[in-house]
Amino acid sequence: MSAKVTVVGAGFYGSTTALRLAQYDIFDTVVLTDILEGRPEGLALDMNQSRPIEGFETTIIGATTTPEGAGYEATANSDVVVITAGLPRKPGMSRMDLIGINAGIVRGVAHNIAKHSPNAVIIVVSNPLDEMTSLAQIATGFPKTRVMGQAGMLDTARFTNFVAEKLGTTVGAVKTLTLGSHGETMVPVPSRCSVNGKALSELLSQAEIDELIERTRNGGAEVVALLKTGSAYYAPSAAAARMAKAVIEDSGAIMPVCAWVDGEYGISGVYLGVEAEIGRGGVKKVIESALTESEVAALKGAAEAVRAKQADVLTL
Ligand code: 2OP
Repeated sequence: MSAKVTVVGAGFYGSTTALRLAQYDIFDTVVLTDILEGRPEGLALDMNQSRPIEGFETTIIGATTTPEGAGYEATANSDVVVITAGLPRKPGMSRMDLIGINAGIVRGVAHNIAKHSPNAVIIVVSNPLDEMTSLAQIATGFPKTRVMGQAGMLDTARFTNFVAEKLGTTVGAVKTLTLGSHGETMVPVPSRCSVNGKALSELLSQAEIDELIERTRNGGAEVVALLKTGSAYYAPSAAAARMAKAVIEDSGAIMPVCAWVDGEYGISGVYLGVEAEIGRGGVKKVIESALTESEVAALKGAAEAVRAKQADVLTL
């Protein structure tokens, strides 16, 4: 398979994503870019030198870029682009506190990507996630199916990990789901959670489930508070890389992602965390599955909160 993926932003999130993508050994080229001169080239050199040890052939190319677009030639004709550019939050900050600064950065990156990779599928991970995904779609002018955001895979993985730890079981035995926004209005979906096929509500009390839901909602902030500088990147990069893999393999995998919702659950015209089938063109189909009445109500609440912010972002 001849495929090229670009990761914009060579911070911890971007560089870890680039390495994961290279180690899948399904791409010809992984391009890693950053505005910090030499950083992407240095990281690429280091990653390429790990190839004989880890046994993968994908070439990693590092490219310093400027906000005005210099250096983007290296990314030309990428099949997938993961946008990690922007600042992470500091302890005590919400993802929404980043909206002003990251809007300008993501808009600029999106313009440059659209120019050099007009057919790419874009996966946005910059925060606040739902708003930056919407902004990237508007800035690129790409079809909405070709722009999506990474959040649900990560939030779901956190929920699954917390349930497994609580019950002392393997993560493989646990199924969970989170929808909604990647923020205050995240919607963990307990009715879709099970352990070895048994409903979560048969194994834990409501109070215990609520505690795990709250911890999931604060999952990113818990890591930020411990790290003190920067935010999580191992689980986030795993999630973004899996999405890019599903695109390039045209796998049709169903994943919780931030996708354009157009009528599903009675919600229209907004980017929101939902389950979707992922393939070569990005989002093949948003999947509307059975939720309880209160879960649908929470999802609608999340949609309205995100809709308001997505409109604000256009003025930034
Ligand atoms: C997180 O939740 C980075 O937003 C990401 O950790």
